[in-house]
Amino acid sequence: MVFIQTAVALAAVALVGAQQLPLVEEHPQHNRHFEFSHPVHRVAVVGAGPAGLQAAAKLVEHNFEVRLFDRAPGPGGNWFYSEETPVRESYPDKPINEDPYIPHRLPFTHFYKEGEDGISLDERWREHWQPRPLWDSLHTNSPAVITELPGVPYAPDQPWVLSNHKIQSHVRAYASLNNLNINDNANVTSYATRVEKVLKLTESNTWRLTLRKLERIPEIGRIKTTWWTEEFDAIVSATGPYVSAHVPTIEGIQDWSRATREDGGWSIYHSQNYRRPQRYQDKTVLIVGASVSASEIARDIAPYTKKLLTSIRPHKNLSPFALRSRLRFPENAEVVPEIKRLEPLQLHHNGIQNGNIELVNGSILTGIDEIILATGYVRSKTFGPNLTADGQPENIHWTGHWIPDPTLAFTNVRSWTIGAYQSYAFAKVWEGTAHLPPQREMQRDWDDAKYQFRGLFSSRQAESLFRQYVVWLNNESLINGGRLVEPWPLQNREIFAYYSDVEWIRGYTGLRNFTEFENVPQSEWPSGHAAAWDAIVFEEDGW
Ligand SMILES: Cc1cc2nc3c(=O)[nH]c(=O)nc-3n(C[C@H](O)[C@H](O)[C@H](O)COP(=O)(O)OP(=O)(O)OC[C@H]3O[C@@H](n4cnc5c(N)ncnc54)[C@H](O)[C@@H]3O)c2cc1C
Ligand SMILES: *[C@@H]1O[C@H](CO)[C@@H](O)[C@H](O)[C@H]1NC(C)=O
Ligand SMILES: *[C@@H]1O[C@H](CO)[C@@H](O)[C@H](O)[C@H]1NC(C)=O
Ligand SMILES: *[C@@H]1O[C@H](CO)[C@@H](O)[C@H](O)[C@H]1NC(C)=O
Ligand SMILES: *[C@@H]1O[C@H](CO)[C@@H](O)[C@H](O)[C@H]1NC(C)=O
Ligand SMILES: *[C@@H]1O[C@H](CO)[C@@H](O)[C@H](O)[C@H]1NC(C)=O
Repeated sequence: MVFIQTAVALAAVALVGAQQLPLVEEHPQHNRHFEFSHPVHRVAVVGAGPAGLQAAAKLVEHNFEVRLFDRAPGPGGNWFYSEETPVRESYPDKPINEDPYIPHRLPFTHFYKEGEDGISLDERWREHWQPRPLWDSLHTNSPAVITELPGVPYAPDQPWVLSNHKIQSHVRAYASLNNLNINDNANVTSYATRVEKVLKLTESNTWRLTLRKLERIPEIGRIKTTWWTEEFDAIVSATGPYVSAHVPTIEGIQDWSRATREDGGWSIYHSQNYRRPQRYQDKTVLIVGASVSASEIARDIAPYTKKLLTSIRPHKNLSPFALRSRLRFPENAEVVPEIKRLEPLQLHHNGIQNGNIELVNGSILTGIDEIILATGYVRSKTFGPNLTADGQPENIHWTGHWIPDPTLAFTNVRSWTIGAYQSYAFAKVWEGTAHLPPQREMQRDWDDAKYQFRGLFSSRQAESLFRQYVVWLNNESLINGGRLVEPWPLQNREIFAYYSDVEWIRGYTGLRNFTEFENVPQSEWPSGHAAAWDAIVFEEDGW
């Protein structure tokens, strides 16, 4: 189990000064709910995945002045598939707190030439938006009811699990339905725009976002970049759980990271770069890792490879999800022990076929053509709040609001289903038709709620959160006005349980049924908290 927090150099968002501001206090008379000291009109939503799109749509509906920013050139979040791949991950992981470059005087515009500062236009573009870690054949490991947005139902004859391309069109359809797609309304959306910095201004009580947009201008063969600032009363941080690829600490990995293949590609790279299997024809490939990306990429390339090896670290207690991945490795994948050391290479332009890989059991592996690091992702310090040891922002109310300043709010990992309630809650709390439940309730509910920011989601915990939202929002609406919300449909819960029984529990874990699975105490899972139902969240837990 490793806890590593890093920042993608230019994606790291620094926050300054918010913690000095006691903006919100427990209401002195009733000693029960928070009062905002300033009205909220203008809201920034950062991230246009399932979570951010739902938040933006709800806030627009409730007449807030909304701006939606995403570094990607369109909506979709994690599901924005592209043939483009991310720029090379850093060997080793980058340190945290690396601030991005921001010019002194803003706004500032610059036109980059090809090769300026030794960086190609293509690389600048990819570094800016960070193509997603999706491969062409990727299908969900969840039933469709888990990844469905309101108003754009999947066709009834959809298969159980959906291809990533199907999900992508679904999310885009939702964006279009809500006028949040590219060019739908330039007053609201700003794509290819990265939030570089967030600052709370004491005098005006507003948040200042430093933004940076990239535009490709093919006619003149340049990329135009502009930095500017905008101010907001509140922010929804919907930046998702995957921030940067995690590279494991293995002796010699930096040396090996410089090795290129005959075709010019790298010999060792993170699974975020993987797209298609055909290129692996007759290759000997070593996959490092044991979680979802590892087993699924192994299955994808297995029909092509000459030889497929997979290096897996031993784990005491496997969560049902990790166990499922173990059992999904293809039959022709040979499991080898953890890597101890990569011996220095003589040459770096000639692949790694002659390199020696020392395993922890003392054996030496050689003759490997390529190494794929399916070693997971790390979250960076975004938007100020420190992360706790297990990667959650500190002091988050179960509704997602940041304490002590609930004008900053975070979306959760169940961004599709619970995201629908959470978005409505953001709108109601900031328009004043709902009060945040008292802080002491946050403590009471925290044990269940905190996992939403981390990845864990047994349906029991999901249910308890659904219930919390329904009871709270409806109570507030009865008192302060607003529509009533309904619980998550019972038939969805049934589909979910059925899918879990078939796909997760019986088929792979040896447990008899879903009830039994839910009764496995977390303390018996590998890291005490693991098991992302959302699957690959924090894959480093299981590599
Ligand atoms: C390989 C893989 C497979 C998965 N499979 C499943 C599955 O089968 N089922 C399932 O339910 N979930 C799955 N997930 C989880 C997936 O994260 C969720 O389904 C969902 O996309 C989370 O939605 P989100 O809106 O919270 O975040 P995301 O979809 O990650 O969206 C976050 C957005 O924020 C943007 N952003 C981040 N930082 C900034 C910044 N500084 N400025 C501007 N924009 C920024 C990003 O560009 C991104 O578009 C998978 C994830 C991965 C990586
Ligand atoms: C965008 O804002 C401008 C300036 O305030 C306004 O004139 C225009 O009508 C707005 N466009 C839309 C689609 O709301
Ligand atoms: C170490 O592991 C490799 C790969 O599984 C195996 O072939 C070899 O026999 C093992 N060596 C020892 C000394 O156990
Ligand atoms: C983050 O942690 C550091 C060191 O523990 C502390 O000084 C700082 O105030 C914290 N920041 C926030 C926003 O909580
Ligand atoms: C409903 O709201 C009122 C007023 O804030 C509060 O006293 C009551 O406890 C709430 N009921 C529930 C079930 O949350
Ligand atoms: C599930 O397994 C538990 C044992 O852990 C058993 O008590 C229960 O009856 C089973 N439920 C079903 C629906 O089979």
